[in-house]
Amino acid sequence: SENIYTLAIESSCDDTSAAVLCNDKVLSNIVAGQKVHEEYGGVVPELASRAHQQNIVPVVEMAIKKAGISKENLNCIAFTQGPGLMGSLLVGGSFAKSLSLGLNIPLIAINHMKAHILAHFIDEDGYDKPTFPFIALTISGGHTQIVKVSSFFDMEIIGETTDDAVGEAFDKSAKILGLPYPGGPLIDKYAQLGNPKAFPFTKPKVDGLNFSFSGLKTQILYFVQKKVAENENFIVENLNDICASIQYTIIQILMDKLKLAVAETGITQITIGGGVSANSGIRNTLKEAETKYGWKTYIPKFEYTTDNAAMIGIVGYYNFLEENFSTSDVVSKARIEF
Ligand code: KG4
Ligand code: ZN
Repeated sequence: SENIYTLAIESSCDDTSAAVLCNDKVLSNIVAGQKVHEEYGGVVPELASRAHQQNIVPVVEMAIKKAGISKENLNCIAFTQGPGLMGSLLVGGSFAKSLSLGLNIPLIAINHMKAHILAHFIDEDGYDKPTFPFIALTISGGHTQIVKVSSFFDMEIIGETTDDAVGEAFDKSAKILGLPYPGGPLIDKYAQLGNPKAFPFTKPKVDGLNFSFSGLKTQILYFVQKKVAENENFIVENLNDICASIQYTIIQILMDKLKLAVAETGITQITIGGGVSANSGIRNTLKEAETKYGWKTYIPKFEYTTDNAAMIGIVGYYNFLEENFSTSDVVSKARIEF
C-alpha cells in the first residue's frame, strides 16, 4: 500500500518541535529548545510563546528538508492540542491549521500525554514495541501519571500526582541545593557518585496509585537548612550523597506505585516516557525489575522521551489510518480530557 507522510508539530511547553514520519518511521525530528528560561529558574509562558513564534517556521522547514520530501508529499498534519501552556499551544495549533488548509490535507489534533505513551510505537531498529495491554508511567516536568493502555485509542489514568510532578520534585530539590534550572539532570549526575542510603528521607503516604511530591520538597528544605546551620559547608561536602538520597527516595516512591499497579491489574509490561525517564537511576531500577519481578520494561530512545514532535506524529499516523480527523474549528486546550 501507499506510504503515508505525516508532518507533526509540538509546542506545548518550551520546545518547538517538528517531525516528518513515513508510516511509523521517523524521517526527521527537529527540536528547538529555549534558553531564555534558564535565568528565570523555570519556564516563563510569555517568553515561551514568543520563542515559538520565532522558531516555528524554520523548525518546520528544517524537518521537511531533512526528511527529503516536499510539502506536497504530505498526507496529514498532526499537532499538539493540549495539555500545555495556552500561548505556546496556540502557536503550533494555528500554524498547523493554516498549513492544512493551504495544502488541503487532514488536520489531526493530538493529546500530548497520550503521545508520550504511544511514542513506544515509533519503528526503530533495536527497539521492541510493547503489546496491549501495558502500564505506562509518564514522568516529566509537568506530569506524573500511571496509565492502563488497552489499545491505541483506549487508555485510562489509574494514578496521578495530587500536587507536584516528579520533574518538579527533582528541579525544586536541586534549587534548594543551589543548582541551576533544570536541576534534574544534575541530581542524576551527582547521584551516580553518592550513597543512596546516606540520608534517609521519608516517603509520603498517599492512597492507591496517586502520588504526592510536595512534602518531599519541604522535607529536603528543612533538612538542608538544619544541616547548613550546623555546618555551612554541608552541601558542598555532601552533594553526591544528598543527590543520591533524594533520587533514591523518588525512585522508591515510583516503584512502590508501579508494584501496586501491577498487583491491581495483573499487567507486567511497563513503559516509561517523559523527560524524567532519562534518569539513569530510574532506567537501571526498571531494567533490574525485569529479573527481580519478572516484568518486561520498555525504555525508549532518549530523543523520544522528552518533548518532541515524532511522538505526536506516530499518534497522528494511527489516527490517519482510522480517519480520525479534526475539523478546522478545533481549539487548543490548556487542560484536556484524557
Ligand atoms: O518531558 P520534559 O522534557 O518536559 C516536560 O516537562 O514536559 O521533562 C523535563 C523534566 C525536567 O524537570 C528535568 O529536570 C527532568 O525532566 N529531567 C531529569 C533528567 N533529565 C531531565 N530528571 C532527573 N534525571 C534526569 N536525568
Ligand atoms: Zn511532555
